[in-house]
Amino acid sequence: MHEMDGKRLRELISAESIADRVTELGHALTRDYQESGRNLVLVGVMKGSVIFLSDLCRKIALPCMIDLIGIASYGDEAKSSGVVKITSDLSNSIEGKDVVVVEDIIDTGLTVSYLLENLKTRQPRSVKVCALLSKPERTIVKVPIDYLGFTIPDQFVVGYGLDFAQRFRNVPFIGVVEGHAD
Ligand code: IMP
Repeated sequence: MHEMDGKRLRELISAESIADRVTELGHALTRDYQESGRNLVLVGVMKGSVIFLSDLCRKIALPCMIDLIGIASYGDEAKSSGVVKITSDLSNSIEGKDVVVVEDIIDTGLTVSYLLENLKTRQPRSVKVCALLSKPERTIVKVPIDYLGFTIPDQFVVGYGLDFAQRFRNVPFIGVVEGHAD
């Protein structure tokens, strides 16, 4: 059990396990995009994926570009409505590029499915999804996750980029908020 910001966090995935898995994902991407030349673009979904993205990109031994997209769900912040808006768009065109969307977590799948539809209209050469975490029990829209770090149970997790009300993103492990620290 860890104490952080007045809360108790139970560690679910250690920093070491995350690092090992990120290295494996980086190797898989390096292998699969060998032929891509200078076309590989990693698109991080803000803000949750930025820590994952920064570790992952350094495990890819190929030329690659990095871009970020900001998206937000309309309505209740705590649950996905499926109606998503782009709050900050990519800074460069992805036409003809091999895009890998880098997500922190696929929960219902609504956000990433909207994003994939949107990105596909921009004529990329290919689009794949790389997610650190997936909660399959909560799936509403099934999206193909081409590269996945870990499958987790239906629990709200924080750390390694993931937040609870903008807190805990800098926690180095993935944990579950268990309640107030005494
Ligand atoms: P989806 O549209 O339901 O798949 O939601 C995906 C987004 O919801 C993620 O990119 C996260 O920002 C957020 N989210 C879903 N589950 C969690 C969680 O357990 N912890 C933190 N954020 C989460």
